[in-house]
Amino acid sequence: MSTESHLQEHARSIADPVAFWGEQAQRLDWHTAPTQVLDMPTPDRTRWFADGVLNMSHLCLDHHVANGRGDQVALIYDSPVTGVVETFTYRELQARVARLAGAMKRAGITQGDTAVLYMPMVPEAVMAMLACARLGVVHSVVFGGFAPHELAVRIDDAKPKILFTAACGIEVDKVIPYQPLIRAALDESAHQPAHIVTLQRPQQPVVLGARETTWDRFVGGAEAADPVLLPSTHPLYILYTSGTTGKPKGIVRDTGGYATALRYSMDAVYGVKTGDTFWAASDVGWVMGHSYIVYGPLLTGCTTILFEGKPVRTPDAGTFWRVIEQHKVNVLFTAPTAIRAIRKEDPEGALVKQYDRSSLRTLFLAGERCDPATWEWSAEHLNVPVVDHWWQTESGWPMVATLMGREHLPSKAGSAGHAVPGYDVRILSEDGHELIANQEGFIAVKLPLPPGCLPTLWNDHERYVRGYLTHFPGHYVTGDGGYIDEQGYVHVMGRVDDVINVAGHRLSTGEMEELLAGHAAVAECAVVGIADDLRGQVPVGLVVRKDGAAIDDAGLERELVALIRDKIGAVAVFRQAVVVKRLPKTRSGKILRKTIRNIADGEHYAVPSTIEDPSVLTEIHDGLKARRIGKAFSEETA
Ligand code: COA
Ligand code: AMP
Repeated sequence: MSTESHLQEHARSIADPVAFWGEQAQRLDWHTAPTQVLDMPTPDRTRWFADGVLNMSHLCLDHHVANGRGDQVALIYDSPVTGVVETFTYRELQARVARLAGAMKRAGITQGDTAVLYMPMVPEAVMAMLACARLGVVHSVVFGGFAPHELAVRIDDAKPKILFTAACGIEVDKVIPYQPLIRAALDESAHQPAHIVTLQRPQQPVVLGARETTWDRFVGGAEAADPVLLPSTHPLYILYTSGTTGKPKGIVRDTGGYATALRYSMDAVYGVKTGDTFWAASDVGWVMGHSYIVYGPLLTGCTTILFEGKPVRTPDAGTFWRVIEQHKVNVLFTAPTAIRAIRKEDPEGALVKQYDRSSLRTLFLAGERCDPATWEWSAEHLNVPVVDHWWQTESGWPMVATLMGREHLPSKAGSAGHAVPGYDVRILSEDGHELIANQEGFIAVKLPLPPGCLPTLWNDHERYVRGYLTHFPGHYVTGDGGYIDEQGYVHVMGRVDDVINVAGHRLSTGEMEELLAGHAAVAECAVVGIADDLRGQVPVGLVVRKDGAAIDDAGLERELVALIRDKIGAVAVFRQAVVVKRLPKTRSGKILRKTIRNIADGEHYAVPSTIEDPSVLTEIHDGLKARRIGKAFSEETA
């Protein structure tokens, strides 16, 4: 462990980011080391290591093989839903990735092209990401739980030349055939990829259409391709995330800055060394999967775990501890929701005790606010440090954490820790003034953002500037609210926009409202994220029906629930829509979503002075109560 403390290192990184990151970049095996560290001609144009040349696939694979780690296990695929456990050494993974890249090259896919992956948690998903990286093809992974409409929107924005997919995904109790989803998405999208490559799976073999080819046929006879040399600023991937509208934001990730930041975070934040086994129990469709299932651990020469299962029911709430024992996991990273699901089924930790967890050093939690009960249960039963940390798709790596690789202050309940080196975190008032300790405001980061963070949005630099940099000039606005206490601990209190977090999955209530409003019987609507014991938040819709609409309330609710499931996906967990007479609004017509949420959650709220008609709040209260929706009412005894 470095002798420099978290706070000292943070101060150094902010005082002289060029020296700090220049030093960190030296840990990578560049083809041409950068001479220029930071180039920021205007606040909206940040380029890290602009004249450096490298390849991410080389860093993650070839570099380790060339340095004697070819026989070390790089990837363990552990799939309780299929009963398969398979390992790949660095040498094996390199060979598979190089051949897949060769097949892509043979198909005419080259540097600067884009690829979309719509895949379950199988090794081929990781291989396809790394094969793209090898050729300089920009990948965009779309979470397999998203419905065809979401996939179509992403295909139209990313315009992939190739689409990688699989015959099916496997959920706890069901096989989900992907072919109908892919076909529905391509029926909706204007853009059509030239190649569709499908991984056959024994659980649901499919007959492929004329445009589609199997993975084996695509790769068959292909020669291995070498990594191409890429500028540091070359986009490694696009990852779409929910904004406040129906159009997701294509977060762009560069190569050299991201590699530098991930390598640093593995050491400083996670306290992980080459040869360690790192498990991020997430999905490659999310940023956590990109950064900490694939690129971070492989860059570091770790063994990474690809887990195709759930924390519970595959087969039981002991499955995480079984994986830790079986693969000697050193660091586990998951979302609080996963622990809540386990705790619900194993409150006394009986299953935890059945497994040898002596390899485990730390549990990291992120993706949503960590409630104290989850934190305490984890600390008590796992008997290792439990570290809450805060970041987002845009940053690509932690912004606030406790640095386990450095001397650090102890974690504090309710806080995600201190600002991570590189991030100059500030709390600002609505008018952009910096607030003092303990005052709650907007969490912003003073520019420049450190390496790894988004340099722009795909095809939409203007939206990037408008969405992130305009609100507080000279700062990046995170979308979260919170405060910093007098000891520098950052307390993240939740989103200040229309983004919600359902089981650690980021979703847009604005998008749901757009969809509901499109229903013929809906005059107007509001969707709010209300507190949920398992998933943290779940969406609930309040809808006002059009006069004369010929559908009863229950029928309308059924149709609206089906609509969101069909358009966004089951993963949105939109299961309740309450028909109300009116929505609470200000005199200027703004819907009082926060007040609705407060009512449902049973939290104290002041009746806003700007409200048009306060009696509507009583109607909302009674409507939710009658349906027992929200913590305020579901927990009441009848
Ligand atoms: N493909 C297809 N469907 C999916 C899916 C996927 N990859 N992931 C989820 N779904 C579906 C589920 O099958 C379920 O469908 P249903 O309504 O037909 O039952 C629905 O989406 C809701 O899924 P989920 O919230 O995962 O519910 P669950 O009951 O299966 O599991 C938890 C609950 C808490 C165990 C689960 O949400 C979980 O593991 N959460 C942690 C998530 C996480 O790690 N997030 C971090 C992201 S950074
Ligand atoms: P995503 O982009 O999907 O990673 O979601 C990022 C959002 O999740 C953040 O903006 C926060 O609102 C929330 N989030 C992530 N980690 C935490 C955390 N540790 N505490 C509170 N909220 C978090």
